[in-house]
Amino acid sequence: MIYFDNAATTFPKPKVVYDSIMDAMMNYGANPGRSGHKMALKANRGMFETRQLLSKLFNTGNPMNIVFTFNCTQSLNIGIKGFLRPGDHVITTSMEHNSVLRPIHHLKDQGVESTIVAANSQGLVDPTDIERAIRPNTRLIVTSHISNLVGSITPIEEIGTIAKKHDIIYLVDAAQSAGVYDIDVRKMNIDILAFPGHKGLFGPQGTGGLYINDEIDLEGIFQGGTGSESSSMVQPNIRPDKFESGTLNAPGIIGLGSGIKYLIDKGLDAIRDHEVEITNHFIEGIKDIKGLRIYGPLTTKQAPVISINIGNMDSAEIAYILDEKYDIAVRAGLHCAPLAHRTIGTQNQGAVRFSFGYFNTHEEIDYAIKALREIASNY
Ligand code: ALA
Repeated sequence: MIYFDNAATTFPKPKVVYDSIMDAMMNYGANPGRSGHKMALKANRGMFETRQLLSKLFNTGNPMNIVFTFNCTQSLNIGIKGFLRPGDHVITTSMEHNSVLRPIHHLKDQGVESTIVAANSQGLVDPTDIERAIRPNTRLIVTSHISNLVGSITPIEEIGTIAKKHDIIYLVDAAQSAGVYDIDVRKMNIDILAFPGHKGLFGPQGTGGLYINDEIDLEGIFQGGTGSESSSMVQPNIRPDKFESGTLNAPGIIGLGSGIKYLIDKGLDAIRDHEVEITNHFIEGIKDIKGLRIYGPLTTKQAPVISINIGNMDSAEIAYILDEKYDIAVRAGLHCAPLAHRTIGTQNQGAVRFSFGYFNTHEEIDYAIKALREIASNY
């Protein structure tokens, strides 16, 4: 199988990730942060190391401002619902995933106002449109770094500067960028950063996280056991305990740490360069295929996520043929991003998404180009 569905989850992971998860499960699979015995302490230290690595990767300063979650959607829910209050206004964009759009829509009934700034037909967001949408009661701006549909890169540093100038909190959804594109929360004025563990950071599914700036008083949306201040009925107000109730996915988080070490060792630049190179190879190879449309900026503002259609063919049918006949894994349909599809004009047809990862090769790209040529010629 040729795997081009890395925007959904990266596969395969580096071998060190599998090895460290197996080691944690078999040799010190105790509950971290609860009991005080040697196995529990070892599991806890392993998780703390991952917290430090994430803190270093995103330049957060204090590792205790990194909160572990189970995925990026949970992180976004904590960031959005934990911050917004009735009467607040939030600005987001038409390129967002439902993990941003649905929590914001949910808050409407509680009196939270919102503005969805439209991206252009290539999926690019203009920061001046965001600035124009600011109202006196705007408290939060939420944007993705990279679109999960067309791979368009949002100028997060520019938006961070605008947010800071207007004293507005900026939340970035790094679902498609963490581990591949540079993110420096202090330099880019990002106040809250939501990220998955199982995509570019090479962790397993069931891992994710949230960075929260020291100065933000975010409400937790879960309460429960933390192994700290146990005599009190009140959730501890210390980080990360305030946001980390219940047993965490310790083996997964330890595996995530191995994934981060792997990518720091390879260098984000080298990983990104390879992914961009094979993306450009793919674009070059398919751009002249008759009847094939490619969406997205296709410039330096293009990340390794490419969506296409062939004539009026159902996108699900193309994905089915790629899977059945060619053993190529892609994702078709609406990608949980209905407004992004409306933005690029594919809300009815959907699109076929190819998302590339560090382990994809030029040979695989050549094979996919050939497959698409054949499918288009039979259409
Ligand atoms: N959000 C992931 C995707 O776009 C799952 O496929």
